Amino acid sequence: MKKLANKVAVVTGASKGIGAGIAKSLAAAGASVVVNYSSAKAGADKVVEEIVNNGGKAIAVQGNVSNTADADRIFEETKKAFGAVDVLVNNAGVYKFGAIEQITEDDFHAQFNTNVLGLLLTTQAALKNFNENGGSIINIGSVVSSIAPVGSAIYTATKGAVDSITHVLSKELGPKKIRVNSINPGIVETEGTHAAGFIGSDFHHEAERTAPLGRIGQPHDIAQIAVFLASEESGWLTGETLLAGGGIR
Ligand SMILES: NC(=O)c1ccc[n+]([C@@H]2O[C@H](COP(=O)([O-])OP(=O)(O)OC[C@H]3O[C@@H](n4cnc5c(N)ncnc54)[C@H](OP(=O)(O)O)[C@@H]3O)[C@@H](O)[C@H]2O)c1
Repeated sequence: MKKLANKVAVVTGASKGIGAGIAKSLAAAGASVVVNYSSAKAGADKVVEEIVNNGGKAIAVQGNVSNTADADRIFEETKKAFGAVDVLVNNAGVYKFGAIEQITEDDFHAQFNTNVLGLLLTTQAALKNFNENGGSIINIGSVVSSIAPVGSAIYTATKGAVDSITHVLSKELGPKKIRVNSINPGIVETEGTHAAGFIGSDFHHEAERTAPLGRIGQPHDIAQIAVFLASEESGWLTGETLLAGGGIR
């Protein structure tokens, strides 16, 4: 039997990048997967198509995680399609780097609303839909909360908040048998890092030069860790932040 057979997983922000990689790997491990997206319907549909073509189960569900009604609707659709949820991957996130002099109120709200408020709202909505067996919540943080790169004050603050929320909720939800862990990737090649100009930049080359494993990450590197954290193989882990940057710390 596959590792995640009979499990239901919701992956936020799964129309591309790390989220798409996680959705595909959870499905390959046997989970029924909800591929959430905000605006990129075509991307989400493509991820679902790939999963289904490989014999898996998935649906795409639109919803802006930073909106309470949308967060609730994601789980209503999940329940209708697959029943109670076992795994929530809080992956949806946005990033914009810039020096302190360039920071705007809009930059602050855009990043905190998605990366922090969104994660809280989807977790709240998911809690109404876990069953008595509990489950696993996997938050996607970032190695930035350890290495604090120049020009990342807002983004690093959001990911520091993710680390803190993981620790708090692991204690709060432990009695409900819900484990809460974070994966904190180093730089990963995604649509988002291409669009932000990170790929091919000095930041990218420096990461390659300093990473003990000598390269940047790919979505699959992160997805394999998510499968582990979703499965019973990690049943004794909660409140952990796993640095996943090929040794960058
Ligand atoms: N790539 C890296 O180097 C790296 C490193 C460390 C951590 N991370 C973290 O990993 C996560 C994914 O990053 P990525 O590079 O894969 O990003 P990406 O390629 O830009 O993809 C972002 C995904 O999030 C979705 N999304 C954005 N805002 C949303 C919202 N309000 N509600 C629902 N979905 C939303 C997007 O959906 P739409 O396209 O439909 O808007 C898309 O599916 C983020 O949390 C990021 O901070 C990334």
